[in-house]
Amino acid sequence: MALITLLLYALSLGLLSYAQPEPLQNYNSSDLLATCNKISAAISGASQVFFPPSPQYTLDIRHSTASIIEESACSVEPGSAEDLSVILCILGSTRTPFAVEGGGRTTNPGFSSTTGVQIAMTRFNETKVNSDSGTVDVGAGLNWDPVYQTLAAIGLTVAGGRIPGVGVAGTTLGGGYGLLTSQYGLTLDTVTGYELVLPNGTVVNVTSEDEDLWFGLRGGLNNFGIVTKFTFKTYPQGNVWGGARLYAASQQDAIKAALLKFQQQNDTKAEASVSMSYTSGKFLFTIFYFYDGPTPSGVYDDFLAINSTGGNVSTNSFYDYFLSVGPQPPGAFESVAFADFHAASVTQFSPAVFDVIVDQINLWGARLSALDNTTAVEFACQPFAQGLFSHGSASAYPPDRSHAIFPVSFTTEWTNSTLNDTMAYALRNISSAVRDAAVADGQDVSHAALYPNYAIYGTPLEDMYGGNVKRLRKIRREIDPEDVMGLAGGWKF
Ligand SMILES: *[C@@H]1O[C@H](CO)[C@@H](O)[C@H](O)[C@H]1NC(C)=O
Ligand SMILES: *[C@@H]1O[C@H](CO)[C@@H](O)[C@H](O)[C@H]1NC(C)=O
Ligand SMILES: *[C@@H]1O[C@H](CO)[C@@H](O)[C@H](O)[C@H]1NC(C)=O
Ligand SMILES: *[C@@H]1O[C@H](CO)[C@@H](O)[C@H](O)[C@H]1NC(C)=O
Ligand SMILES: *[C@@H]1O[C@H](CO)[C@@H](O)[C@H](O)[C@H]1NC(C)=O
Ligand SMILES: *[C@@H]1O[C@H](CO)[C@@H](O)[C@H](O)[C@H]1NC(C)=O
Ligand SMILES: *[C@@H]1O[C@H](CO)[C@@H](O)[C@H](O)[C@H]1NC(C)=O
Ligand SMILES: *[C@@H]1O[C@H](CO)[C@@H](O)[C@H](O)[C@H]1NC(C)=O
Ligand SMILES: *[C@@H]1O[C@H](CO)[C@@H](O)[C@H](O)[C@H]1NC(C)=O
Ligand SMILES: *[C@@H]1O[C@H](CO)[C@@H](O)[C@H](O)[C@H]1NC(C)=O
Ligand SMILES: *[C@@H]1O[C@H](CO)[C@@H](O)[C@H](O)[C@H]1NC(C)=O
Repeated sequence: MALITLLLYALSLGLLSYAQPEPLQNYNSSDLLATCNKISAAISGASQVFFPPSPQYTLDIRHSTASIIEESACSVEPGSAEDLSVILCILGSTRTPFAVEGGGRTTNPGFSSTTGVQIAMTRFNETKVNSDSGTVDVGAGLNWDPVYQTLAAIGLTVAGGRIPGVGVAGTTLGGGYGLLTSQYGLTLDTVTGYELVLPNGTVVNVTSEDEDLWFGLRGGLNNFGIVTKFTFKTYPQGNVWGGARLYAASQQDAIKAALLKFQQQNDTKAEASVSMSYTSGKFLFTIFYFYDGPTPSGVYDDFLAINSTGGNVSTNSFYDYFLSVGPQPPGAFESVAFADFHAASVTQFSPAVFDVIVDQINLWGARLSALDNTTAVEFACQPFAQGLFSHGSASAYPPDRSHAIFPVSFTTEWTNSTLNDTMAYALRNISSAVRDAAVADGQDVSHAALYPNYAIYGTPLEDMYGGNVKRLRKIRREIDPEDVMGLAGGWKF
């Protein structure tokens, strides 16, 4: 359960080309090498370029999904925004393909990997608490783990990611569903400022006063430059209750009823992610519980009355809870050969929708396992409180804040290298089937936005950004007239 679960909550900086970067004319490995050397000569001692097969290079290009790793010509670790500015100017003027990697958890090819120059953000690693303003500055190369750890020591937290090993940058730039979303909003709603290297190399601080960039950076991923630092609101954090419990397939009806009642309570302190997996012919429910307080209200009573086959819940510090739901030992970097994510959006995990989700995992789990018996399929229903989008102003994502929609994520992992198109077909088919079931059940979701951090490569921009696409394209043309960020992968406006 550990890795697939990790992947479910993951994201990254990164592509699928809507407008493919113009390929370099006649570019070859010696051109790339020349660019790497040019960068190496231009940066300060705070930054460094690495070449294959050095260990640091290997670390810089790694991703949790092995199949999307690309052999870059070199990797570069910028140590300051000024050096990153120099690097971006060189990449832009030489039209060199590049990629920017934060946590490396995307499953989409080319979103944060490249055969050109790999920018690894790891040196942007500060966590600096600003007591006066109740905020914290967080470097864009960090995972949530050290941020929560630093803040825990002074009784604070941020509304970040749910699972250890996931990067701050991708979570925040793409949206950010987490443990505190029902209380405080998406992670992007808790940002108070960005330090950004614009596509032309100018370093700026972006705040809510910069109307267009503020709108675009909040959900628009790497379209507008490279963020080096985020400033987040902090919140006081005491002990929490929760954990993961496992349930047999025979509990479907009881879980369905408990989930419906749970959603109706609309309790902002209570979260539950109802996940299900199909591996080696076996179906299993895993429910992740999280309550922001040492003792839950009665909100989980119906769930807790269901006979569980394993797992446990307890009261812990926020940080210990966070570590407990990740890979063990904490900090381990897990990886798989092949993996894809995708998503659907619903306004409620109603009984009819829940049954279709369970039917789909059983149907596709059996089909895909017949092609590759190592296949693991996991879905997660992620309900939040109704007010989750009321905590922030207009942003690239979600395109419509007027009513709540909740993601359901779909993940597959496999090892047979011939199956990538089959897996992508399956996930798109599952997403459509769940959407159609929700529509048939009376939900207004025929055009509900898909979460960009879960959406599979090839997803049309309109399916994630809806009516915002036009404005986002206009901002992109203004901020990046030379299409420098088009040299990097990711969703592109
Ligand atoms: C690579 O391309 C450059 C032009 O961009 C050319 O001058 C050079 O000869 C090429 N090198 C090789 C090894 O093909
Ligand atoms: C941050 O990165 C620098 C290297 O650039 C390293 O010396 C330092 O120990 C790191 N700090 C933390 C808190 O990891
Ligand atoms: C951004 O803000 C920080 C903190 O206020 C300041 O030190 C820095 O100089 C600013 N950078 C720019 C490019 O304005
Ligand atoms: C709970 O499930 C276990 C194994 O699945 C079974 O042995 C036990 O009888 C069940 N208990 C109740 C109260 O249903
Ligand atoms: C928690 O649940 C897991 C899975 O059933 C089990 O292996 C572990 O021993 C349990 N831990 C405690 C403290 O009960
Ligand atoms: C999976 O298939 C391989 C051959 O393709 C076989 O060697 C292996 O035993 C199978 N594993 C399981 C768990 O069925
Ligand atoms: C759910 O809770 C939010 C926040 O407390 C509140 O604004 C909203 O009206 C509630 N909605 C429903 C349907 O109970
Ligand atoms: C991999 O999948 C293909 C179908 O795409 C199948 O023909 C082949 O036997 C599979 N290989 C293994 C080792 O299971
Ligand atoms: C699918 O696999 C083939 C063969 O390994 C590869 O050429 C192709 O790029 C892969 N596509 C994706 C989207 O990963
Ligand atoms: C999903 O796939 C099935 C066949 O496996 C097909 O009949 C159905 O039309 C597909 N549905 C969608 C929405 O693509
Ligand atoms: C860089 O881009 C920004 C945003 O479009 C613009 O305001 C600034 O003037 C540009 N700087 C240079 C040196 O062209």
